[in-house]
Amino acid sequence: MTVDIDNPLAADAVTGLWAYPPTLPPKWLYDERGSRLFDEITRLPEYYPTRRETAILEAHAADIAQATNAEMLVEFGSGTSTKTRLLLQAFADRAATLGRPVTYVPLDVSTEILESSAAVLASDYPGIDIHPMVTDFTSPGLVLPPSTGPRMAVFLGGTIGNFDDAERAVFLERLAAVLSPGDYFLLGADLIKDTGRLVAAYNDKAGVTADFNRNMIEVLRAGLDAQGLYADDFDHIARWNPGRHRIEMWLRARRDIDVYFAVLQRHWKLSAGTEVLTEISTKFDPSDLAGELAAAGLREVRSWTDDAGDFLLTLSCR
Ligand SMILES: C[S@@+](CC[C@H](N)C(=O)[O-])C[C@H]1O[C@@H](n2cnc3c(N)ncnc32)[C@H](O)[C@@H]1O
Repeated sequence: MTVDIDNPLAADAVTGLWAYPPTLPPKWLYDERGSRLFDEITRLPEYYPTRRETAILEAHAADIAQATNAEMLVEFGSGTSTKTRLLLQAFADRAATLGRPVTYVPLDVSTEILESSAAVLASDYPGIDIHPMVTDFTSPGLVLPPSTGPRMAVFLGGTIGNFDDAERAVFLERLAAVLSPGDYFLLGADLIKDTGRLVAAYNDKAGVTADFNRNMIEVLRAGLDAQGLYADDFDHIARWNPGRHRIEMWLRARRDIDVYFAVLQRHWKLSAGTEVLTEISTKFDPSDLAGELAAAGLREVRSWTDDAGDFLLTLSCR
């Protein structure tokens, strides 16, 4: 079988769907509909991480602007950039005080959300230069735009948890390599906590996370021209893996499934009960995470948690 190397979904499907267990990288959850569903998740009562990280940013965005004096913010997986507004306001205020420019580079794979959010931000923050980048932040060829002053890479939402241990080490190493000495890295990470709360955050009563997870089936159907593949044939599963301290999201086949992917010219057969791993969300111990950052050459400057100790925001320096 030949795979179109210009079709990254086809390449990931060939690598992942026939593996054991079958899996796909979580970026395929985020087409336009997936990004809108994620945005809805951030407002659900069970989904505490967004509220906790917002509280930390409300309390400390000005401290971060002052400590870094960054002239450019590059945000990985920016999505709608909703929480980032707190940083943008603080950096715009600081830049105005110092009479310096500030640039914001939101970077995401989800083109429609990235572009529509960037357009709104440009009109809401006329003093900030906004340059959206449609890029995969796991790309080995990732480069950051040059800046005359310090840059701050920003990675919010606990998205760092979507990497497994090895992927995370590679990501941090590559990030450190593309940052210059004197640049900063602001990272939001969800912390280990009560299992019941963790599972509820990924299995909400309204079923929005279930729709978000099943949307990956729609992405596969549309992107690989699939026949016989329906989102309703899968159950959403969210479970805590205690050994790897992570939530895992799976899609479990409700019946025997035989899909034909026209783009791959290949059948995908799953027997009822087979599970497909769609996302992991690792939860952290703050000192372990500081150790991982240090191992990559990123020195901790300051860290903050919310009042409940649920979420961590950590600023490190290259
Ligand atoms: C969990 S959401 C977080 C969104 C936002 N930063 C927040 O804190 O609410 C993950 C974001 O990362 C983006 N994303 C996922 N994988 C990506 C990748 N490999 N490269 C670039 N963006 C990616 C998704 O499109 C989505 O906007």
